[in-house]
Amino acid sequence: MRRCTVSVLSVTICGLLGPLTVEAGSGLALTEEVISFVSQADPEAGKDFAQKKCIRCHGLDGISKDAATPHISGLSALYHYKQLKDFQSGDRYAPRLMRRSCQNVTDQDLANVAAWYAGQPTIPTVNTVNPPDLVRNGDPQRGILACAACHGQNGQGMPPHIPGLAAQHAEYLTVIMERYRDGTMPTGDPVMLQSVMAMTGEETDQVAEYYQRLGGR
Ligand code: HEC
Ligand code: HEC
Repeated sequence: MRRCTVSVLSVTICGLLGPLTVEAGSGLALTEEVISFVSQADPEAGKDFAQKKCIRCHGLDGISKDAATPHISGLSALYHYKQLKDFQSGDRYAPRLMRRSCQNVTDQDLANVAAWYAGQPTIPTVNTVNPPDLVRNGDPQRGILACAACHGQNGQGMPPHIPGLAAQHAEYLTVIMERYRDGTMPTGDPVMLQSVMAMTGEETDQVAEYYQRLGGR
């Protein structure tokens, strides 16, 4: 099994090794079959579905006005589909209405809507903001890997497996990191979970603020 190898001395090697395999226990397994299924989805059908089920909270373009509701424009269809399946299975905690949007729908609907939002534009970065040390270098003594190693130097992510964090609402990011820390959201990459668990609440707040301030989207 090929995994993302990260060295705390280098923030560039992740992703050069080819596709990551997200391990069992971290929600939906991204098998070849799933990857191929998602790649054949129909974004126009997904647009109709989004109009019925998602726009109230995420907008048709995937930009949300509420700080607890994430922007979802430009997420890779594969990452997006995995999140929807994890909401559906309960592997990922979801607020009631978000979970309800994923019930009584087909996998095809979910793949289509993921493809629709994947096609909505993101503007990667608009601000120059110095990253907190943890983002750039991690902290080897505490077993914290540099976030930038996987989420990119500018928080742009590494599609299709690793989401961008730039411009995301800080409040949303803080909530997710709290869940990583208290173990209620085991669907993240295991190496990342270990890193985020070793951070203090103050540090996760700083990191979340940083990513939001990078702007874009
Ligand atoms: C009632 C409001 C609401 C509706 C309707 C809704 N969502 Fe959400 N969505 C949320 C909230 C709130 C979250 C944050 C969940 C959390 O706290 O983990 C979320 C999270 C997500 C995420 C996770 C993003 C990430 O970066 O991991 C995705 C993907 C998503 N929604 C897609 C959809 C799609 C597609 C639909 C329509 C089928 C939809 N949502 C309908 C409120 C909503
Ligand atoms: C080994 C690679 C790796 C490292 C290092 C890493 N992440 Fe992640 N991160 C991921 C993956 C993969 C996901 C998607 C998990 C999933 O599929 O649910 C993710 C998801 C996230 C999310 C959720 C994003 C969303 O849209 O809901 C946050 C927040 C996050 N990471 C923060 C961090 C922070 C902060 C650090 C640095 C301490 C970090 N990550 C380091 C791989 C990594």
